[in-house]
Amino acid sequence: MNIKVLIIPGDGIGREVICEAEKILDVVGRSYQIKIEKMHALAGGACLEEKGVPIEEETLELAKEADAVLLGAVGSPEWDNMPIKKKPEQAILKLRKAMGSFANIRPVKIFLPLINASPLKEKIIRNTDLVVVRELTGGIYFGEPREIREEGNKIKGINSLVYYDYEIERIARVAFEIAVKRRKKVTSVDKANVLESSILWRKTVNEVSKDYPEIEINHMYVDNCAMQIIRNPSQFDVILTTNLFGDILSDEASMIPGSIGLLPSASLNEGKKGLYEPIHGSAPDIAGRGEANPLATILSVAMMFRYSFDLGEIADRIEKAVEMVLEEGFRTPDIAGDGKAISTAMMGEAVLKKVHFRDGLTLSE
Ligand code: IPM
Ligand code: MG
Repeated sequence: MNIKVLIIPGDGIGREVICEAEKILDVVGRSYQIKIEKMHALAGGACLEEKGVPIEEETLELAKEADAVLLGAVGSPEWDNMPIKKKPEQAILKLRKAMGSFANIRPVKIFLPLINASPLKEKIIRNTDLVVVRELTGGIYFGEPREIREEGNKIKGINSLVYYDYEIERIARVAFEIAVKRRKKVTSVDKANVLESSILWRKTVNEVSKDYPEIEINHMYVDNCAMQIIRNPSQFDVILTTNLFGDILSDEASMIPGSIGLLPSASLNEGKKGLYEPIHGSAPDIAGRGEANPLATILSVAMMFRYSFDLGEIADRIEKAVEMVLEEGFRTPDIAGDGKAISTAMMGEAVLKKVHFRDGLTLSE
């Protein structure tokens, strides 16, 4: 088997966590005799500095050619005051758009050894196992018109929340298909009491739901959902929502397992190609210190094998390795509480050892 993976470390802790994830990718390739062709590219602030743009056209072409893209994080404070087209975040948005990665899948589950790392009470979070399915290439992130315009002596900022029925339908199908393999419940989150685009969203989701009679569908307003995620997260199986609501709710949900440094994501297009990234950002406050948690990125590699390459066995093995290191007490600072913390590289190494030796596979190198 041959696979082509484009690796984009990006900015800040992106580079540190990608470094660990790449080692996992290498060891899996060697253990399973998968020929992994790795390509590397710049994006975000790193690319702005060297090339003057957040991402180069040729990188977008490479991303389209690759079987999967593994991204660290982009964003760096030096570029905060730049006009929108010159912000590092444009790199991610352009990649998502170029690859057509409309379906963002963000699983949130509890790791039992970390149950006390969460700021929420154990009895509330204990049975959490949910997936946020976020629409990723539409909505207010991409709607036109968008601009800052002068109107007489006033200045007006405009963004447009636009959804086409076909965009809603295809993301809804992804959510229902995921629910079929899980606990068979979809909660669609919108703001249909205020927004026209949400009225269309709800109607379209209800139409799609007719094709899935075995799935329980319910609808929730986003403000209520934000509350319910904290009040009783175990009521959720699959949360289906828009680009902006999914962005916000997935950060909120990351506090259930205790750290945003634990949450991976997959963004899939109509084929099986995917963009895999941790849901956290570039964390400039801790960048370069070797303190970042690489587990979200390592778990994103697991998702890559599951979703793009149909190799659930490898995904299970990586996920199991992560569970084992947590059981053995390895902790980066974000999940250490008052206990002893280890570095990004040590955490990566601990997982690597488990992936490597778990069922006695030897490396061919
Ligand atoms: C995310 C991030 C991105 C988003 C940013 C970096 C553009 O917050 O992946 O959740 O808003 O989608
Ligand atoms: Mg976000």
